[in-house]
Amino acid sequence: MIPTNAPQIGREEIEAVVKVLESGILTTGLGTGPMVKKFEEEFARFVKAKHGIAVNSGTAALHMALLAAGVSRGDEVILPSFTFTATAETVLLTGAKPVFVDIDPRTYCIDTEKIRKAVTRKTKAVVPVDLYGLSAEMKLVREIADEHGLVVIEDAAQAHGAAYHGKPPGFYADLACWSFYASKNMTTGEGGMVTTNDEELAEKLRCIRSHGEKKKYTSVMLGHNYRMPEIEAAIGLVQLKKLPKFLKKRRRNAKILSERLKSASKLVLPEEPEGFKHSWYLYTVRLRGARASKRDGLVDKLRKKGIGVGVYYYPPIHLMPFYRRFKRHRLVETEKASRQVFSLPVHPGVTPKQADFIAECVLQLL
Ligand SMILES: Cc1ncc(COP(=O)(O)O)c(C=O)c1O
Repeated sequence: MIPTNAPQIGREEIEAVVKVLESGILTTGLGTGPMVKKFEEEFARFVKAKHGIAVNSGTAALHMALLAAGVSRGDEVILPSFTFTATAETVLLTGAKPVFVDIDPRTYCIDTEKIRKAVTRKTKAVVPVDLYGLSAEMKLVREIADEHGLVVIEDAAQAHGAAYHGKPPGFYADLACWSFYASKNMTTGEGGMVTTNDEELAEKLRCIRSHGEKKKYTSVMLGHNYRMPEIEAAIGLVQLKKLPKFLKKRRRNAKILSERLKSASKLVLPEEPEGFKHSWYLYTVRLRGARASKRDGLVDKLRKKGIGVGVYYYPPIHLMPFYRRFKRHRLVETEKASRQVFSLPVHPGVTPKQADFIAECVLQLL
């Protein structure tokens, strides 16, 4: 089976973990051990942000960013429904209401015009998601947010290595949230980070991460235990070094798939619009005009051939049993995309020969 995604772990990561175990420092009271600090510095430098605050998941990063931005009960937060559950779940955890808006069918990211229409006097923040590793239209998101005094929290969980008009994710946001889950472009097993250029927000984030403490046993606000362990940070440091190589291989595989599949008129291939750099976290194609059952039939057949095809995301969040009650706007493009998309393996473990085989199987089955 060629999996949809697979962590790329080598000797270096194993040695880094052993070193931490031998050091005896597995974590620290405020979550600011030597490995965590170094990882925060290096990752923040990589995304050209002033501050990085490492946590134990991307979900924790989103929750903490919303809390630091002051999102709370009575507020509304605008976000796409075509994303992983955590983007909406963390809004609800603050007591605020998620307001789902539709996507641009070309990029699968939030439709900026729909943001404008969804703003009310209760809107506090907007959470664009860089879906599949392609940046949302961040300049436009920023413009709309500034018009209405909204905080921008970019969900960059899938976008390590992406760029938007030469800028890394987070450049146009107040806060950017990253995930280092095992499937991601770089991993710490579980893990996450918030990056920001705002000193005050960074200070709040550090407090929230560890029980609202500035100093140990001196809580100044409500917090959590969202600390990243030292072992994870040590893995992250190695993975960050390897990331450029990983990204190159993802890009190579995406290119092979696009070259081979361009003749398939039944498919809409992923785009990398002018000025955007894809991180190729997922190579997602769309089965033109298909119902979900037709797409699922093709996905099943591909899996039987040993290709780990994923469907991201079906159903979209607003159609999940728990989240249905939050639907406010029509989400035509979201529902359509959700019925038609599927993602082919593009991760660095996929060899050019395998990428060719994947494309060949798709063409045959079509
Ligand atoms: C778009 C998006 N947001 C948030 C998350 C949550 O990250 P984590 O799984 O690290 O909690 C993920 C990843 O799983 C994601 O893909």
